[in-house]
Amino acid sequence: MSIRYDESKKTFTLQTKNSTYQMKVSEYGYLLHLYYGDRIEDEDLSYLLKLQDRGFSPCPNEAGNDRTFSLDFLPQEFSTDGNCDYRSGSIEVKNADGSYGFVGKVKGHRIYSGKYKLEGMPSLFGTEGDTVDSLEIRLQDEATLLTVILRYSVFEEKDIITRSTRVVNENPETVYLNRVMSMTMDFMDSDYDFIHLDGRHTMEREVTRIPISYGMQTIGSFRGASSHQHNPFAILCDHGANEDFGRCYGFSFIYSGNFVCKVEKDQYDQTRINMGIHSKHFSYQLKSGEYFEAPEAALAYSGQGLTRLSQLYHNAYRENLCRSPLSAEIRPIVINSWEAAYFDFDDDKLLHIAREAVDMGVELFVLDDGWFGKRDDDCSSLGDWTVNRAKLKKGLKGLSDEIHKMGLKFGLWIEPEMVSEDSDLYRQHPDWCLQTPKRPLARGRYQLVLDLSRKDVCDYIISSINAILDETKIEYVKWDMNRFITESWSSIEEKEKQGEIYHRYILGLYYLMDQIILTHPDILFCGCSGGGGRFDPGMLYYQPQIWCSDNTDAICRLKIQYGTSFAYPISSMESHVSVCPNHQTGRTVPITTRGVTAMDGILGYELDSTKLTTEEKEICRKQIEDYKNFYPLIAKGDYYRLTNPFAFHEYTAWQHVSKDRSRSLVSLVLTDKEANDAQRYLKLKGLKPEARYTVSGMPGLYSGRLLMSAGIPVPGSLLEYEAVQFYVGETGGQS
Ligand code: DGJ
Repeated sequence: MSIRYDESKKTFTLQTKNSTYQMKVSEYGYLLHLYYGDRIEDEDLSYLLKLQDRGFSPCPNEAGNDRTFSLDFLPQEFSTDGNCDYRSGSIEVKNADGSYGFVGKVKGHRIYSGKYKLEGMPSLFGTEGDTVDSLEIRLQDEATLLTVILRYSVFEEKDIITRSTRVVNENPETVYLNRVMSMTMDFMDSDYDFIHLDGRHTMEREVTRIPISYGMQTIGSFRGASSHQHNPFAILCDHGANEDFGRCYGFSFIYSGNFVCKVEKDQYDQTRINMGIHSKHFSYQLKSGEYFEAPEAALAYSGQGLTRLSQLYHNAYRENLCRSPLSAEIRPIVINSWEAAYFDFDDDKLLHIAREAVDMGVELFVLDDGWFGKRDDDCSSLGDWTVNRAKLKKGLKGLSDEIHKMGLKFGLWIEPEMVSEDSDLYRQHPDWCLQTPKRPLARGRYQLVLDLSRKDVCDYIISSINAILDETKIEYVKWDMNRFITESWSSIEEKEKQGEIYHRYILGLYYLMDQIILTHPDILFCGCSGGGGRFDPGMLYYQPQIWCSDNTDAICRLKIQYGTSFAYPISSMESHVSVCPNHQTGRTVPITTRGVTAMDGILGYELDSTKLTTEEKEICRKQIEDYKNFYPLIAKGDYYRLTNPFAFHEYTAWQHVSKDRSRSLVSLVLTDKEANDAQRYLKLKGLKPEARYTVSGMPGLYSGRLLMSAGIPVPGSLLEYEAVQFYVGETGGQS
């Protein structure tokens, strides 16, 4: 068992292969956090708790005259509210009598094999190769009978611990939850940097790193989606931590809606981190006997720097989160019609693009937006999921048949969560969109958000989308979502429950995906929200790849993909070669470089293949061939960031290494060329020091140790925006 309870010491110890997590029940029944870090065998870390009389930090009543026991500085596992702790809290409850407060004390626990399950929400699962044990600790407020069940699952080999919180109302009267964090963790020190991924539409997941300071540093979203602006992921690490050294803690929230992550440095130089659903407009009614389930957070610890931390998430998310049976298979190379045609197409134009792509080695044609209703621009027709016969004379089925005759598979774009004002659906059911009474609706991209908190709305969407998927041969679906929520009010819900709508929308979305995606296990689903506006672990549970960004500029993508790689596997990032000058930035970059960048993800194409020269097509054909050859390394190997594009501007380099360390693909893009520049050496990572390797383009054999310590010379002949790849193979290994 990877979880132990020591009755004599009242400690819970959770062990993964390389980390230890320990908690203790205090003399008054509070659950205190003792330690999370490098694995420690059979030690009691209670000695770390140092009780002292702290001025202006009150003590709970049961401490009597003992002024040294204050919850204002003791490290807690799930903080009490209204009981002497002034730090940012795990929970806020409005009790039946109108009072606020929750004082949870340990009332029991349960340890069992296997993973706990969350109802209607994504969460990690164990596979045959995993040892997973779980722990539930029951905290109860003796005055109100509100009960919090803290749940932990330990993925021993994966070095991952998941947490979730269930709140049960055992009181005969109704209460309101105004905040429930999925996890709280208190550190007894504060020498950490806070790393998070922020950005904007077309420039997602930039990496921000700041030392934590007194007060609160908060990231989050109340846009109704995880958002382009902040990602539900955070790292706390030593100030000196880098890719290879230092203690790093990862916190990843498996949820696609509003979230918050608060990092607080307190008056005693301690740190608290809270992660959960954002409390803005959140108020959850809990009647007697009902419970609320908070989404899951996945925690990882690496004592060996950031690369290792990312690899822990990559391994776990590939194997224990992506549920699609297709996620383990080699993904098809797609060509997508969006940047090739936007809304301006008919069947002939699409078939021409598809036909020209066949010789390049493309395997699947995706018809993006504009195929339904009377949609010739983005002003109309969302919700009217019937084919536009003016554009597609033989209908979707006819187009799909023609595409299949070419030997390609067929993919389709949908945006099921939205409705256009100019649509039959909206004219028939104006109450089906989220809205606030008496206020005119805010618009985003001329569209409104359907009320997914309503089962009748979800069921309509399920039947209309499933009808399309069942009538036409479709092997790939791009599921888009192009505006955020502004009005979180539902026309059929009673007023006391309107504070639940943001969350119920996400539960509705997960229900939709269960009913559409799970019922079509042979279709590969790709998530999208104006690019990467909902690039989160919750979506990966349903859709193993996500369109990383609407920015297809290869140079911008270096930063976007670098940031994304901190939390998400390479196999989750869909990345396309597009035309130059690039449609978002106007930049021109060689097609080889566009391919090298797109290969750092799920490679595809997003251009008009009829306009490519023969030479360009040949380059694409070779890209696809190389990509397929290296796919096992790229999609299933270990990933190394060799440079940080936010700090080092000359070039960006990264490396994919096979799990057995016998093969590697090294990629480098020159981003800022100076004349007569210095000779640089790229130091590789992840190889076997004693093994001997060949390196493409370099004569002779090199030991792994040499390649990692002296490196390989960066070719001085490279010009700005040019790229190079090195294939590194162990001699005697597969070439
Ligand atoms: C936003 C997506 O990110 C694009 O790739 C494209 O599918 C458009 N929507 C279509 O409206």
